[in-house]
Amino acid sequence: MTLVFNRYKDRLATLPKEKGWITENLYMYQGFWHQSSRRISVETVMALQDTFEAHPTDIYLATLPKSGTTWLKALMFALVNKNRYKHNRLSTHPLLVSNPHDCLPFIETEIYRNTPTYIDPHSPRLFATHIPYTSLPRSIINSGCRVVYLCRNPKDVLVSMFHFANKLREKSCDVMTFEETFELFSRGVMPTGPYWDHVKEYHKVSVDHPDNVLFLTYEDMKKDTTNNVKRLAEFLGYPFTKKEEAEGAVQGIVELCSFQSLSEVNKHGNLREDIRNHAFFREGKVGDWTNHLTDEMSCVLDEITKEKFYGLDISW
Ligand code: A3P
Repeated sequence: MTLVFNRYKDRLATLPKEKGWITENLYMYQGFWHQSSRRISVETVMALQDTFEAHPTDIYLATLPKSGTTWLKALMFALVNKNRYKHNRLSTHPLLVSNPHDCLPFIETEIYRNTPTYIDPHSPRLFATHIPYTSLPRSIINSGCRVVYLCRNPKDVLVSMFHFANKLREKSCDVMTFEETFELFSRGVMPTGPYWDHVKEYHKVSVDHPDNVLFLTYEDMKKDTTNNVKRLAEFLGYPFTKKEEAEGAVQGIVELCSFQSLSEVNKHGNLREDIRNHAFFREGKVGDWTNHLTDEMSCVLDEITKEKFYGLDISW
């Protein structure tokens, strides 16, 4: 890890900087803002671009932070491994004892650390990433592997990120008010933001290459979890058989990965020395932004979204 940091130190020093949400600074690299910290850093993005080798059978989950990554990690892990942990053996399922982030690692962090605990040599490799499409390692794009993108209403992403950053902010950083985070978010300054550019890029490839990229929204997943989980299973290449459906396998996975179940499993303990398992579970609802944004703030974000997503079929 230190080697990775040192190799890219000179490049880091040339990048434009802004105030960070969790770490002291964010750095602009290839049009997007990245942290430079021990956990997720712009240097690892550079290192992945130089060295990461995707397999054509890999499956990736791409998201902006706070879009429901943890939920989708759980669902994708459960679906791809559904025959390994059959419905009648759900009591031994890893998601009943581990954080979804331990089951399905981020390429930009875990790949440089531990061997993921639950990788099955007979299954495709499952990874997640917050890296914008522009900056993905070329091998991911060229190998034609499957990518699931999960998008969430920007106002709920902002609110969720505000709370998350408050829990994780490094001690050397000042506390940020909601007004301050709103101002940064509106200017596109958030980890792996601008929000709108991140979403737009993945949306475009999902339209151009629907067999490779599946575009989902958190809101649709909440509204009709069962049908969207079936759709996700088909895209991943693990469709439910009629028999499995009749036996309640879809519902079993929906419940296993529900907010209630995962937040209960992750009530205690730490994911890393400085991140509580529970930090990834707060409200798990659509529309909590109404409790945080003023009408004026809401209008500002609506206007930006209308302009940036003009002509695109993205709604919440
Ligand atoms: P809130 O802060 O709005 O509650 P990420 O996993 O990308 O970090 O996103 C975290 C957000 O997803 C949090 O949103 C969290 O509560 C919510 N979340 C976590 N697990 C979920 C689940 N199983 N179902 C629905 N939402 C979930």
